[in-house]
Amino acid sequence: MGTRLIIVSNRVAVPEAGGNATPGGLAVAVKAALKNRTGLWFGWSGKAQDETDSEPRIIERNKITYVVIDISTHDFQEYYNGFANRVLWPILHYRVDLAEFSRADLSGYMRVNRLFADKLGELIEEDDVIWVHDYHLMPLAKELRHRGHANPIGFYLHIPCAPPDILVALPRHQEILGSLSFYDLVGFQTENDRDNFNHYLVSHGAQAGRDGTSFTLDGRQVRTGAFPVGIETAAYARLARNAARSDFVREFEESLAGRKLVLGVDRLDYSKGILHRINAFDRFLEMNPNWRSRVTFLQITPRSRADIQEYAAIEDEVTTLVGRINGRYGEASWTPIRYVNRSYSRTALAGLYRAANVALVTPLRDGMNLVAKEFVAAQDAQDPGVLILSQFAGAAAELDRALIVNPHESEGVAAALKRALDMPIDERRQRYKKMFDHLAHNDIERWAKNYLGTLADTRQRPGLLDGLRTLFGSLA
Ligand code: UDP
Ligand code: G6P
Repeated sequence: MGTRLIIVSNRVAVPEAGGNATPGGLAVAVKAALKNRTGLWFGWSGKAQDETDSEPRIIERNKITYVVIDISTHDFQEYYNGFANRVLWPILHYRVDLAEFSRADLSGYMRVNRLFADKLGELIEEDDVIWVHDYHLMPLAKELRHRGHANPIGFYLHIPCAPPDILVALPRHQEILGSLSFYDLVGFQTENDRDNFNHYLVSHGAQAGRDGTSFTLDGRQVRTGAFPVGIETAAYARLARNAARSDFVREFEESLAGRKLVLGVDRLDYSKGILHRINAFDRFLEMNPNWRSRVTFLQITPRSRADIQEYAAIEDEVTTLVGRINGRYGEASWTPIRYVNRSYSRTALAGLYRAANVALVTPLRDGMNLVAKEFVAAQDAQDPGVLILSQFAGAAAELDRALIVNPHESEGVAAALKRALDMPIDERRQRYKKMFDHLAHNDIERWAKNYLGTLADTRQRPGLLDGLRTLFGSLA
């Protein structure tokens, strides 16, 4: 048997899940990267049950084998709602103030990582390359190594990595972040995230190698790198062209009655800056009475992690704020903000992006933000919309022809919105072209090849590089 790629993540885009699931950026990216590859994707089924001695479920689709396991409601609470999403998520997004640590949650996190290692361990073969994704599974390589697996194992963090001063607020950070040194390669979205982690490593006893990309910690060698995640740019542009002709998009456009469309698409998460954005839209309407009645803001916001208190709280706040603004400015025939909590299919979303004049992508902190990239890819080259992008999204390091804003300054965002709506066609085309060309070149395929090529180089195992070449085509 040749080299197999095993992807491991908490969230898996299980084909069975149907069109309504909101996978989030990780699952969207991994799914695209696995296209045309032979591999196995292992992770959580999305189900938490009281009784869970069930065996992993195996689903075969288009050369990919999905293997998913259930976890118990107790594990779900401690590992997913608790440590992963109430401790690691806020801290890595620079929100120490929102972190709620408990020892029980940490032990649940470790327990589920051991469960993953046990179940995955039964499937691993000697030539497999293992690629673990995101903050839910930091200690997984350590657990796999303890079980004797010597395979190349890489880790990729889809979310930001905060600077060392913030990371040390994580109780037991050395145990958790230090366990990343059991991987061969740790990848980040941006150079800034990578540098933050490198500084953390060095300030906690790691020796930096001469090239500045390898570190030795407690006798283990780990390499780090920045690999900004991309999208399926060409395919997405085609999808958007076709979606724009669908009944769904046509009916939606009719409902706008000639008004301009401003679009926001985010999971309902405090990191996305939705409240700040709506306040900025309020400011825009206040400062520009001539735009009232001539623009509609559609905010698509599927619920996310709804059991967690901070997520429930943000939902209440957004609903109240939207109601207040619609009440203040709305008219019988015009609702300024259309706010929906449902999720849309990939196709429907592509059509909406193309119909939009402006996208407001204003997270307070975001690993990458694929919505920003998808919006650009979906535009009509002759009449493109304008991207307004937070300086705190990973995507801002690449999409520098967007209107870059500080989401904390509502007047600045309001001014950018006015500028975007008034922007002459030539400027829109120039900005779009530069960004589209970048995305066309740096697409999801390149991301996967760069990462896996670097992982193979890191291990320099005889035969491994050849095996990867056969599997992935020529490595970049
Ligand atoms: N998405 C979707 N339907 C929706 C909302 C979002 O398919 O109703 C997708 C969106 O197209 C994007 C992903 O979910 O691919 C969100 O990724 P992003 O990196 O922007 O944010 P994340 O949710 O991962 O923080
Ligand atoms: C972000 C994270 C992913 C996560 C996604 C959706 O993209 O990086 O790991 O899967 O959000 O969140 P959820 O908690 O529903 O998996």
